[in-house]
Amino acid sequence: PQERTFIAVKPDGVQRALVGEIIKRFEARGYKLVGLKMLVPSKALAEKHYADLRTKPFFKGLVEYMTNGKAPVVGMVWEGQDVIRQGRRMLGATNPLESDAGTIRGDFCISIGRNIIHGSDSYESALKEITLWFNENELADWQLAN
Ligand code: CMP
Repeated sequence: PQERTFIAVKPDGVQRALVGEIIKRFEARGYKLVGLKMLVPSKALAEKHYADLRTKPFFKGLVEYMTNGKAPVVGMVWEGQDVIRQGRRMLGATNPLESDAGTIRGDFCISIGRNIIHGSDSYESALKEITLWFNENELADWQLAN
């Protein structure tokens, strides 16, 4: 289906200057960029974003890493056919040890704690995350030429 997903280049991806590479891959695939912002997320935002992981041993470190401001996060909303599942495939497995070459994580990283990029894992997460990171008036409604 035509749908939207939330993709975020994490601070390590920004520090490694991979923002352009990531945008390029989604554009080249045929997806439409409808939201884009750079920010250092608040602790509250990061904790809500990762609420499902709050009992994990790495939760505190993950939130600290996302919010410490050494580098910002680039949040994006991409739209198109099956973009939620396809986006996850383009990202590769969460653990870079398991991500295939040709995927973003498979091509650019080695550590699960520094895996460059986040992508919504379901329709429900996409809705939750887009609402969390973007206001309605920050999303653009426009047509791709084809
Ligand atoms: P992400 O796709 O943003 O979803 C949850 C994040 O938690 C994940 O990518 C990793 O960055 C992080 N994460 C998952 N497992 C671990 C782990 N074992 N150690 C550190 N970070 C982890």
